[in-house]
Amino acid sequence: MTARTETGRVPFLDLKAAYEELRPETDAAIARVLDSGRYLLGPELEAFEAEFATYCETDHAVGVNSGMDALQLALRGLGIGPGDEVIVPSHTYIASWLAVSATGATPVPVEPNEDHPTLDPLLVEKAITPRTRALLPVHLYGHPADLDALRDLADRHGLHIVEDAAQAHGARYRGRRIGAGASVAAFSFYPGKNLGCFGDGGAVVTGDPALAERLRMLRNYGSRQKYSHETKGTNSRLDEIQAAVLRIRLAHLDSWNGRRSTLAAEYLSGLAGLPGIALPVTAPGTDPVWHLFTVRTDRRDELRDHLDSRGVDTLTHYPVPVHLSPAYAGQAPPEGSLPRAESFARQVLSLPIGPHLERTQALRVIDAVREWAEQAGRP
Ligand SMILES: Cc1ncc(COP(=O)(O)O)c(C=O)c1O
Repeated sequence: MTARTETGRVPFLDLKAAYEELRPETDAAIARVLDSGRYLLGPELEAFEAEFATYCETDHAVGVNSGMDALQLALRGLGIGPGDEVIVPSHTYIASWLAVSATGATPVPVEPNEDHPTLDPLLVEKAITPRTRALLPVHLYGHPADLDALRDLADRHGLHIVEDAAQAHGARYRGRRIGAGASVAAFSFYPGKNLGCFGDGGAVVTGDPALAERLRMLRNYGSRQKYSHETKGTNSRLDEIQAAVLRIRLAHLDSWNGRRSTLAAEYLSGLAGLPGIALPVTAPGTDPVWHLFTVRTDRRDELRDHLDSRGVDTLTHYPVPVHLSPAYAGQAPPEGSLPRAESFARQVLSLPIGPHLERTQALRVIDAVREWAEQAGRP
């Protein structure tokens, strides 16, 4: 993330502009919390949880300290732990795997679709073993995974689904929000997310009241009542200041997501048909929220350097596939065994996108990409 600069660069994401747009109400909300003397597990969290659950078309939201904690606690709340296997995407941010590892269970990677960055359900079925307890699809870049196919598999094999919705606030699958109904979905409110706060934050949404109750206990030292500890919980609470900020931003989420979609449409038409560049594909029945606009090309590093020279900031999501990260050395399939994840890592490049990117900036990005494609296409 780069702050708006005087040099006229196109920033990848402008977090300061997001603050500026809602500054008076944000400052007032923070002041209200400071004045209240109540900083944890208070009325702002309670109100945000109710509003976020409604937004996600479900009954319960439980605020926690981060997206990683939301995933980890959702898995623990479902009883998943040592000896269990959880199917995770090979192509994702490492937090999706780390959350599984943190419960003591084993992440089992499965490849994405060839042309869509989410789990390939056909390959998921092949990876299910008697130890598999859950599927952990990631709605990567804001694009919903193929939930119908995954739910069918989960039903047939008696598995839970814990959705990693860290990049998908407000996205829809077959008309319903990610997290709707009986789903269990984990969200991150990291500052750069579509719904972000001023630090770390996360939430689990669920339609299951018993799971919501367990999560409230787990996030608060395993305690429902002060000094009565029913289980070995942890300390993972979304604080009152972040909750107050998130309530303000939630009211603007659809409009901010709408701006992202308009920019994505601009990119899709402005970059259509360029040789050697694959544009993101929207799967039928899905309404993505364009957390990222990620293209693929075999000459990724060249494109990145060209855009940099034209003043356009880009990022790579993600440059090292998780199975090749030192964190999983000796505990994940070896190099070459997850070729789709490995080629995504070599090819992906995310262009600037966000609710505060101007159309003129997006047009500059398009011009710079087109210029590169035309040069690259020349003999
Ligand atoms: C796909 C995905 N899963 C999980 C996380 C973890 O969220 P957090 O950073 O809030 O722990 C992130 C973001 O960082 C993410 O992008």
